[in-house]
Amino acid sequence: MKDIVVSGARPTGNLHLGNYLGAVKQFVKMQDAYTCFFFIADYHSLTTHPNPKDLHNDARTVLIEYLAAGVDPEKVTLYLQSDLPQIPELYLFLNMHAYVGELERVPTFKEKVRTQPDNVNAGLLTYPTLMAADILMHKGTKVPVGKDQEQHLEMARVFARRFNNLYGKEILPEPIAFNMGNELVKVPGLNGAGKMSKSDDGSTAIFLKDTPKELSKKIMRAVTDTGPTEPNQPKAEGVANLFTLMGYVSTPEVVAHFETEYNEMRVRYGDMKKQLAEDMANYLTPIREKIEDLSKNDAYLKKVAEDGAEKARESAKKTIDEIRSVIGFKSF
Ligand code: ADP
Ligand code: TRP
Repeated sequence: MKDIVVSGARPTGNLHLGNYLGAVKQFVKMQDAYTCFFFIADYHSLTTHPNPKDLHNDARTVLIEYLAAGVDPEKVTLYLQSDLPQIPELYLFLNMHAYVGELERVPTFKEKVRTQPDNVNAGLLTYPTLMAADILMHKGTKVPVGKDQEQHLEMARVFARRFNNLYGKEILPEPIAFNMGNELVKVPGLNGAGKMSKSDDGSTAIFLKDTPKELSKKIMRAVTDTGPTEPNQPKAEGVANLFTLMGYVSTPEVVAHFETEYNEMRVRYGDMKKQLAEDMANYLTPIREKIEDLSKNDAYLKKVAEDGAEKARESAKKTIDEIRSVIGFKSF
């Protein structure tokens, strides 16, 4: 059976270089090899009660940035989760076989209980069943996501297996987290520690939409140290992160040049950052220009969203009809 790829992201702002290299670039690679369903998980974002004005705008932003990054709606089914009435339906069915105890043990849920004790809503508890509904809806087998999502994939497998066992039929395949070829990447930020994330204050994440001027401003402020004091000295995290970022966007010669400068204690971080800012701008400019063009093209966005919804609903209807029949729903 041909593998089916399903993945999505919650619309919570602009995409950054981490989202791109960790997820969206994977989507672009997979679109030529598999049947792909990529979507904007706007129902999932409701767990944090977004302002009604932001809900649509954030979804629009992610749609624009997926397209600008190279996701091709001619090759994949690209849609908004909220355009599929079958999603809440499958979510309901799966919830009947999801146990409160197991949902309470999911690490991301426990983390929310700790960090936002005032908003431990049932949507958060059942986040994994909604995510499983997204994947199982299209009988997805491969799911390109970052490492943080592995537990959710495990839950999706549990729900699929349970459903199949209960009804005695192999209806829903068990999906796995999947990355094309290479290892999962973790893109660092500019603040000297940890991964790039949009929950940072915005000055340490590199957004796909950033102009060369904005990039230069952020990169010139990136955390480093006072410089090596002995040859071949191990690098402080901030310095190592600059080299990692350079590795993504600069030529091997440029990286090697600054490695030598560092190892021979001649490195000037100002020069290195200037080079990184320039190479980053060259890397991101084609994407930024597409973002700018697409932002002005509402007619095209509307067409993409409508065509995607139609294709996705067709696939979803097939699965949901099968599921309803297996559960025992019949018309009079
Ligand atoms: P954020 O952490 O900025 O809120 P999300 O949780 O919305 O990002 O993640 C969307 C996708 O991007 C996920 O598949 C996630 O694994 C991936 N991702 C996010 N940050 C990084 C990063 N710094 N490096 C690699 N992948 C990342
Ligand atoms: N939970 C994912 C995230 O936060 C987003 C998501 C929702 C998803 N449904 C999905 C990812 C289905 C893959 C498949 O990034």
